[in-house]
Amino acid sequence: MPDVKVKKILDDPELYIIRVDDDRIRYFEATWDIPEGITYNAYLMKLDGATVLFDLSKGEYTELFMGALKKLVNPEEITHVIIHHTEPDHTGALPAFLEANGYRAKLIGTSFAKRFLEGFYGEKVVENFYTIKDGEEMNIGGKTFRFITVPWLHWPDTMITYVVEDKLIFSCDAGGGYGIPETIDDSDEEVVQRYLPHVTKYIVTVIGHYHKYIVQNIKKLKRLGIVGEARMILPGHGLIWRKNPMRIFEHYEAVGAGKTTKGKVLVIYDSMYGFVERRMNIVLDELRKHGLKPVAYKFTDKEAPAVSDILGEVPDSEAIIIGASTYEAEIHPRIRYTLYEIVDKTNYEKPVLIVGAFGWAGVAGKKIETLITRSKFDHVDTVESRGMPRPEDEERLREGVRKLVAWLS
Ligand code: FEO
Repeated sequence: MPDVKVKKILDDPELYIIRVDDDRIRYFEATWDIPEGITYNAYLMKLDGATVLFDLSKGEYTELFMGALKKLVNPEEITHVIIHHTEPDHTGALPAFLEANGYRAKLIGTSFAKRFLEGFYGEKVVENFYTIKDGEEMNIGGKTFRFITVPWLHWPDTMITYVVEDKLIFSCDAGGGYGIPETIDDSDEEVVQRYLPHVTKYIVTVIGHYHKYIVQNIKKLKRLGIVGEARMILPGHGLIWRKNPMRIFEHYEAVGAGKTTKGKVLVIYDSMYGFVERRMNIVLDELRKHGLKPVAYKFTDKEAPAVSDILGEVPDSEAIIIGASTYEAEIHPRIRYTLYEIVDKTNYEKPVLIVGAFGWAGVAGKKIETLITRSKFDHVDTVESRGMPRPEDEERLREGVRKLVAWLS
């Protein structure tokens, strides 16, 4: 059952989180399998003469969100709503909020945000909208709010807010992750360790298409001196970072840059009747002989891993090995889709070895090779043959792995 948590984060300034824990969702953006769920974080800051709401919640949880908000404040007293990003997981509750607020609050966001909100919810919601310029500062309730645009993390409308006197970064999607952590913040290392893989999966699936902008925008925040001095990072999903605020941006940077874990090789394959699997067992054996640590995902008639989980393994892998059957003169459908998303979401300079098996004509290997050579990935070799692998096929497979190992050394 979805739940809402309301907790005080700070006494001065008086700051609260309103966190909707969504354990009902199965496919984020109707695409990405997230059995781990997700949270939608909004924040409320009470200042002298001003009450500021930072983002809201998803439309289907409007009642839950508004109920929690009303326990903290009369919605009519909210003077400002900061819209960091308009995707409806953060703005779906906006129309109901504005009704309860009597349209008194000033909405603050980028010009893109204004345009998108109007498109999503109609003209009335943006009647009292203030459009910021990048780097603009505004005094609200005696505090300096600096608004910094971070476009393409992951929409063009995205910005963060830095509360200068208190060194607080409200970062919305940037710094967020999937999962419903047991704690509100990063104070428990075991919670953080369980959570970080969900962050990687979130970055790749949601922001991955624009992953070069992760590195660019973090550089921008560093250049502005904000990242180094921040006391707390308060994202729109998942944990608040207060014990070690830099850690989440370091993690984002590492994923954005595809920083590798030594020896990790991602192996992905389909096997309809075991012919590809026999080849991949040879490949896995050769990898282990060279001291590498393969992480394998396979599509068979008994299992189908989540593509979102596979994508989450790409950034820190040193290399990828793809095994595919030829299926109706094409790449096997599940590998085709997985590969399409890998090239779209995780387009890194990493070596790729291709393995194929076919019944009457080998097509998959060549088609995968074309996709790989047109991407940033480096094509190492393609080893494809008919039916059961013969001794000469085994030797070619081992040779392919040795080429991959040489590439890594
Ligand atoms: Fe969490 Fe892009 O919305």
